[in-house]
Amino acid sequence: MVRHFLSDDDFTKEETERLIRLAMDLKARPIQPLLPNQTLAMIFAKPSTRTRVSFEVGMTQLGGQGLYLGMNDIQLKRGESIADTARTLSRYVNGIMARLFAHADIVELAKNSEVPVINGLTDTYHPCQALADYMTVYERKGRLAGLKLAFLGDGGNNVANSLIRCGAKLGVDVVIGAPKAFWPKKEMLKGTKTKVTDKPKEAVKGADVIYTDVWVSMGDEAEAAKRKEMMKPYQVNGALMKLAKKDAIFMHCLPAHRGEEVTAEVIDGPHSVVFDQAENRLHAQKALMVTLMR
Ligand code: CP
Ligand code: NVA
Repeated sequence: MVRHFLSDDDFTKEETERLIRLAMDLKARPIQPLLPNQTLAMIFAKPSTRTRVSFEVGMTQLGGQGLYLGMNDIQLKRGESIADTARTLSRYVNGIMARLFAHADIVELAKNSEVPVINGLTDTYHPCQALADYMTVYERKGRLAGLKLAFLGDGGNNVANSLIRCGAKLGVDVVIGAPKAFWPKKEMLKGTKTKVTDKPKEAVKGADVIYTDVWVSMGDEAEAAKRKEMMKPYQVNGALMKLAKKDAIFMHCLPAHRGEEVTAEVIDGPHSVVFDQAENRLHAQKALMVTLMR
């Protein structure tokens, strides 16, 4: 049976830990021809810097190649079904990575694909991000279980959802600090010990990791003004960082908007690990592709 990675829950705790270990091995020895002559199709319905480059470079380093398929360049745009797209691509390539809007669309893609499908971000999840992020936390802290990660801002977005689901699996205490209108959906919290509060100071108290993401995700542009106004009190700035542990790290999936969700002082300061996160996307996704496609 072909295996996909659509959400964080597609891997068990043990499998997730194994992926992180493999990612660290691949980081130490990046050039290994583990997927010789294989091709990964990469469908993008939304823009991307990190995801596109890390998957494409990752395939090259593994001895294969990534094939960029912009949404405007393929027949999906003109109404060819997701199912037919999946069936067709399955005849040419060894894996499909897709960045889409509705999560149901990637589920449909996977249902009709004969090759592994990897979620490169949907409106609901960003599981590759969470994988690279927890690898980064592990590198910095030497452990994951029992650490406190506070996520500030848009607590119901794709990155927050994946941090909640993956974090719960790894024993990380995730706390969401967000306005009530932007709390995660109840179903996202199921089976987790996630705490949710609308008090930003309470959320970050004693945290090992402070994480934020843009206030306006791709697809949320119509609500931009309202979101920016409501999330203002959740900006990660120097004063808020002081309430976390002394050795707390600051994380952001990027792209960032300095002066909105985070101040320049914090993201460009000594606690920030944002470019380690970006780098680790490469290693974590290579581990994922080797696991699914070999
Ligand atoms: N963090 C992330 O997924 O970045 P891109 O949108 O640049 O791929
Ligand atoms: N939440 C952001 C993440 C970008 C990598 C978005 O969906 O736009």
